[in-house]
Amino acid sequence: MRIAIIGTGYVGLVSGVCLAEFGHDVVCIDKAADKITMLNAGEVPIYEPGLEALVERNAAAGRLKFTTDLAEPVAAADVVFLAVGTPSRKSDGHADLTYVYSAAREIARAVRGFTVVVTKSTVPVGTGDELERIIAETNPDADVAVVSNPEFLREGAAIDDFMAPDRVVVGLNDERARPIMSEVYGALDATRHPTLFTSRRSAELTKYAANAFLALKLAYINEIADLCEQVGANVQDVSRGMGLDSRIGQKFLNAGPGYGGSCFPKDTLALVKTAQDHNSPIRLIETIVGINETRKRAMARKVERAVGGELRGKTIGILGLTFKPDTDDIRESPALSIVQALLDKGAVLKAYDPEGMDAARLAMPELSYCDGVETVASGADALVIITEWKEFRDLDLGRLGGLMKQPVLVDLRNVFVPAEVRGQGFVYESVGRTD
Ligand code: UDX
Repeated sequence: MRIAIIGTGYVGLVSGVCLAEFGHDVVCIDKAADKITMLNAGEVPIYEPGLEALVERNAAAGRLKFTTDLAEPVAAADVVFLAVGTPSRKSDGHADLTYVYSAAREIARAVRGFTVVVTKSTVPVGTGDELERIIAETNPDADVAVVSNPEFLREGAAIDDFMAPDRVVVGLNDERARPIMSEVYGALDATRHPTLFTSRRSAELTKYAANAFLALKLAYINEIADLCEQVGANVQDVSRGMGLDSRIGQKFLNAGPGYGGSCFPKDTLALVKTAQDHNSPIRLIETIVGINETRKRAMARKVERAVGGELRGKTIGILGLTFKPDTDDIRESPALSIVQALLDKGAVLKAYDPEGMDAARLAMPELSYCDGVETVASGADALVIITEWKEFRDLDLGRLGGLMKQPVLVDLRNVFVPAEVRGQGFVYESVGRTD
């Protein structure tokens, strides 16, 4: 198959590279010339384990190309994937579809012969209909089927998620697209990685419904953690006991400082807006959006308690800034809100993250950035773990405690065993554990 991918952001790049790995001829297109130059030189602009090696291999095999020119690869393509950004609109929280629509107009002008146009970007229900309308309006001769094929990629595990997905969801209203989409994913063993064909609107909604459900699970376990703290229970035991019920499942039951990232906050908000617009509000999700926002800032109070009630003038060392480990992404990271709340309370902050420092420097210039954990610990009144990087799991606490002004650890990811940390002389606060 000849495939064109528009947008070489996270989703577009991972999808393009993996589709090339499936054996297709893929051209990745982006307006940002500097990005294309980098990719053509074999450099990958994002941090994602395994991605660089796949880019190299497929580019060398001639199956993967990068260009700023849209017209030629789109004209040659059997399938065009739309993987441009859909950020939250500042004004009202709706997904901003400006880039999707302008790419659709360009596609409409460029297509030759029957072409399947696939939305990979997360787009609200009904966007496929609007794309069809825009394409027909821009070029009445364009012969296209618009398909929804949402991505379910986790940062840090995106290659695996694409190459061995729990499921592929394909929503289409034009049957001509079905065999073509089957061929796109033909390399997958269908018994282990099934493709579910649905209507286009069902596929569009599936993405939001799935992400909002996972966010709900997280908001729920976080509130159970708060209750654990009040009643003297341990949230890790509670979540283990819950998760062994196969109807509930073990995953996504780790309590923490609140969920972040480029998907959950944006997608829950967009689902809330869509549901309200269709006069079918989803109050559960409306509620968790608020719960999660408040939670992130509230984590600063744990730090305040741990240092004895007053943060003004205290030096707090932050360990971890990204929204989760194995990524350099700080978008909607709980660290952003926690840092702001600590600064508001008058704390002086030092920080270290194994991969997120470049992004963090731009977003949080008020922090002083350190080259490692020991520099952060040195002279600090408390250390706060916000992201559970492996490097932090392996810390030598005894040694760190000696470098600090006072040994205080606030572990917002429950990385450590409380008795062990306290055994090393630390004041220790974690999430949903009182033991
Ligand atoms: C998510 C979805 O998992 C993916 O399917 C979707 O397509 C994009 O959004 P991602 O944003 O990469 O992926 O991160 P994910 O691993 O899902 O974590 C999201 C947030 O939840 C992180 O801040 C993480 O720290 C938090 N989290 C996750 C918890 O606090 N506890 C958990 O048990 C799991």
